[in-house]
Amino acid sequence: MTISGGWKRTARGAGLLGPDGSIASTIFAEMSALAQSTGAINLGQGFPDEDGPPEVLEAARRAISEGYNQYPPGLGMPVLRDAIATHQKRFYGLDVDPDREVLVTAGATEAIAATLLALLDAGDEVVTLEPFYDEYGAIVGLANGVHRTVPLLAPHFLPDHDRLRSTINDRTRVILVNNPHNPTGAVLPKETLELIVELAHKHDALIVTDEVYEHLVFDQPHIPVASLPGARERTVSISSAGKTFNTTGWKIGWLTAPREILTAILAVKQFLTFVNGAPFQPAIAVGLALPDSFFTGVAAGLKAKSRLLSAGLTAAGFEVSAPEGGYFVVADARPLGFTDGAAFCRELPRLAGVVGVPISAFCHDELAAEYSSLVRFAFCKRTEVLEQAAAQLAELQVPAAR
Ligand SMILES: Cc1ncc(COP(=O)(O)O)c(C=O)c1O
Repeated sequence: MTISGGWKRTARGAGLLGPDGSIASTIFAEMSALAQSTGAINLGQGFPDEDGPPEVLEAARRAISEGYNQYPPGLGMPVLRDAIATHQKRFYGLDVDPDREVLVTAGATEAIAATLLALLDAGDEVVTLEPFYDEYGAIVGLANGVHRTVPLLAPHFLPDHDRLRSTINDRTRVILVNNPHNPTGAVLPKETLELIVELAHKHDALIVTDEVYEHLVFDQPHIPVASLPGARERTVSISSAGKTFNTTGWKIGWLTAPREILTAILAVKQFLTFVNGAPFQPAIAVGLALPDSFFTGVAAGLKAKSRLLSAGLTAAGFEVSAPEGGYFVVADARPLGFTDGAAFCRELPRLAGVVGVPISAFCHDELAAEYSSLVRFAFCKRTEVLEQAAAQLAELQVPAAR
């Protein structure tokens, strides 16, 4: 007897499978393949191309030698949970109980998945900003939730407060806030975060914050939503070591949340990965305890890189919005005569030997059309790579026929 295709229902319903049953292809995969086949500089994917602090790498090697190679505890190793709690106090003045309010996860990716799967019933609404990190839509779909968005308005990519008020309602179960923001590089002002807390109270919603770029804010202190009055008891704060310590491949993330909420998330997480990355956990504890100069240095270094790449893009004729944090800069290709960012990204390796990704990949159809000429470029690369990319972009030859 042959098996019917019914088993594909959930993945297909969430838009994760194409009509032919293959994994729905993404522009990210296409652009990375294009970078490989053309030898172009890949500024499409957001991962650093150099190692992070040597103390952290050495601590991982040491942990392997010392035998930290079996399943760690379900909540995460005490040394890392303590370091996370100490970090929350040190940087944000937040008191977090390392034994009840901290959960180590397989990257922020798992923290987001476990949180949404734990908190959503079918039909519950989740409000995110748009453009949005693609995982949000996928997991809301798998949880049979309803994804509503509030657009980030160019050129500063901030949300309109009235739009937040009209989108968040009594059906909203989760307000999912990514700050600093991927892909736009926006940092939300305190008033917007305060409004989100106010609306969460008004509609009895939970707040989930994705703060993986918390240490990559350029000119202002990062404000965790959980630090605002009235936020803590209804907020799940998610972060990751990958971005701060250039260890994206280690997949060490975490969340902090009030005990009851955390227990619900743990109940799901234990059946996703159970645990992960034993020798990397004590190493990230070492990273979190590095002196302030490390953290300010990371932000200053990335700011310089963002300005370097932005200058190259501006010289090439793009309209560029200056990011305030994170890994990415958004450039508008319209002044160069391109209105379709996806088509432009397919041509860019030939035109300038550089790869980016269209912002439309982070949008539902409506905003995708409005933002069709915007392209995201990653600047979390070595300075010489960015210099080369900037030089190539500055030489960009736009075909005369356009
Ligand atoms: C906004 C955002 N959230 C979550 C993640 C995933 O983080 P991790 O690699 O720790 O799973 C990323 C990675 O690019 C991201 O940009």
